[in-house]
Amino acid sequence: MRYAHIVGWGKYAPERVMTNDELATLVDTTDTWIRERTGIGQRHLAGPKDTCASIATAAAIEALDVANITAAQIGLIIVGTSTPDFAFPSTACLVQDALGADTAGAFDLSAACSGFVYGLSMAADAIKAGSIDYALVIGSDIMSRLLDWKDRNTCVLFGDGAGAVVLQASDQPGGLLTSLLRADGSGGDMLYVRNNYRDKAVVSTPHLSTALTPPAATGDGKVSDAGYIFMNGREVFRFGSRILAGATREIAARAGWELGDIDLIIPHQANNRIIESAAKSLALPLEKMFINIEHYANTSAATIPIAICDAVNNGRLRPNDKVILVGFGAGLTWAAAALQWGTPRVLSRTNRTLNRVRLGLANVRSRARRVFRRLEDSLSSNVDHPVKSPVSPASGPDRSGTAVVETEREGKV
Ligand SMILES: CC(C)(COP(=O)(O)OP(=O)(O)OC[C@H]1O[C@@H](n2cnc3c(N)ncnc32)[C@H](O)[C@@H]1OP(=O)(O)O)[C@@H](O)C(=O)NCCC(=O)NCCS
Repeated sequence: MRYAHIVGWGKYAPERVMTNDELATLVDTTDTWIRERTGIGQRHLAGPKDTCASIATAAAIEALDVANITAAQIGLIIVGTSTPDFAFPSTACLVQDALGADTAGAFDLSAACSGFVYGLSMAADAIKAGSIDYALVIGSDIMSRLLDWKDRNTCVLFGDGAGAVVLQASDQPGGLLTSLLRADGSGGDMLYVRNNYRDKAVVSTPHLSTALTPPAATGDGKVSDAGYIFMNGREVFRFGSRILAGATREIAARAGWELGDIDLIIPHQANNRIIESAAKSLALPLEKMFINIEHYANTSAATIPIAICDAVNNGRLRPNDKVILVGFGAGLTWAAAALQWGTPRVLSRTNRTLNRVRLGLANVRSRARRVFRRLEDSLSSNVDHPVKSPVSPASGPDRSGTAVVETEREGKV
């Protein structure tokens, strides 16, 4: 029988830290209000050069190092994100290219803050089915780019970051034992971001009219501007408290555990009070809940993998511990997983140096492929279209997710 164990973990929090006091210079709030009502003390903010893909890659490199494997061994890369750099290509493809993961499939998974646990469940199933031996599951979000920095109801709650784990096939019992994935789209209007591009639609698509109808206004009747988070805080609070407790009960039962058997619950970090209310409802001491929201705020899909890293670093995860991961978020979505912690014998011994060499080679190879494609393109367009248009713009991502703009006249910008 095959099992899927977490054997590597890594995180990336951008260097720039914004404290509550600094935030209070932007909106009408205070450090005391934010701490008391949410538990948040600060958040990390991505810099202008950070992209969803670059921070995901940084976390992934750390996870590969811990797992002591090379990117060439990975069969699947899943990135849970709500803030991809591009509609396409996926963030996962940019990470694949940056790592030089030659034999990996790669895709993004849109399940908001539940995205990491969704991805973990799917990757573990692929491992258990025998399709792949290693998977990289990442949660990466730059929430600061979706925030209206004049809206105190939302801008105090979120931060930027990425976390990653490596899953490995093993014949040793344990690892990710069972999971549950759920959704309730009727609650989509409680927490949403309208696409910037949907307002550009010019083609009449009557058959899609239902799907294209914006979420109904909620609460105060406000509908958010495209590109910014809209949240009905009180409803989301109630939903989160109910789900954290309910999904924990359900997944524990599926794993055959009593609630008292659980060593640690790693919940989505949206609000301290949501976590406290779930602990109360489960009649579990708060110490069973891992909480690190004070340092990062809500980093959406990244919260749970970042929390896994911090739990390991703080000695909160020991071999054979019974652990529950439970996330919830926009969609509405929620997901939970029961896992028995413990690093099995690592079959493949590689080292950091080999990974760094591979990263360097991946960089060179990626550039070489781009040059080759351009050459191929110009040779074939000379044959097919002897008269060139004066400027043929092509914009696309480079390996970090940064836009590269090229024109025949200007070259690479
Ligand atoms: C947003 C949230 C922190 C608000 O906390 P709350 O205690 O419910 O606060 P309320 O919404 O009841 O508002 C209480 C008051 O605080 C005010 N307030 C809201 N944000 C504030 C802020 N940042 N600073 C100071 N006051 C604030 C409100 O305007 C309101 O004032 P009023 O009574 O004069 O109208 C809380 O509802 C929450 O955490 N919801 C879930 C969010 C979440 O999980 N989102 C992501 C899910 S993945």
